[in-house]
Amino acid sequence: MKPAGLLSGQLRHPRGWIGALLGPVMNRSNAGLNRLALEQSRIEPGNQVLEIGFGGGALLEMLLASAMPGIAAGVELSRVLLRSGQMRRGLRGAVLREGAIESLPFSDAVFDRVATVNTIYFWSDPARGLREVERVLKPGGRFTIGFHTEADLRRTGVSKAVFRPIDGFSVETLLADHGFVSISSAVGRAADREFICVSGHRERTTP
Ligand SMILES: C[S@@+](CC[C@H](N)C(=O)[O-])C[C@H]1O[C@@H](n2cnc3c(N)ncnc32)[C@H](O)[C@@H]1O
Repeated sequence: MKPAGLLSGQLRHPRGWIGALLGPVMNRSNAGLNRLALEQSRIEPGNQVLEIGFGGGALLEMLLASAMPGIAAGVELSRVLLRSGQMRRGLRGAVLREGAIESLPFSDAVFDRVATVNTIYFWSDPARGLREVERVLKPGGRFTIGFHTEADLRRTGVSKAVFRPIDGFSVETLLADHGFVSISSAVGRAADREFICVSGHRERTTP
């Protein structure tokens, strides 16, 4: 595997000491997208919020602060980042679990908001992941997916085989095909990065 492939593999699933170093790097390089995802999540005080693939924890920390006195939960595939999250001062009070979008370790209809940033490139089974998000959302709950554009990923030099690029229209279609409603997108730029957040809601009533 080429060096770009090795780094991309670590960004997909951080492991060992290199993985532990990547948390702060992700927080810095994804700060603009995390801010847009926070804004697009439209958190209200008292909300129950979940972030899937919280990485270095910067967005989860902001979600937790915005949702208070509600709760924030985070799921992470990487054990090393899960441990860092458990030690992060700003995440005291957050519920942190090991897991993946394809199998969320939570009961049905518990969250008002679910967010995930920079994970869609890696989903092994999008249909299964979206069913899981819908299951844990309360009726009417909002789901926000943040990701960098294909041009941005190309500029950063990550491996296309690992970071499978996707565009805003395809993400909107994916959400609509899986029963989400009131879908909208927001595009952002910060420093030299370019990103999109697509949001949709779980229907209020089941058909
Ligand atoms: C590129 S990092 C992004 C981290 C953080 N969200 C950010 O944008 O800075 C991708 C993260 O998602 C996690 N991840 C990868 N595949 C996942 C999956 N199928 N479900 C949940 N998390 C996943 C990885 O462990 C990693 O921490």
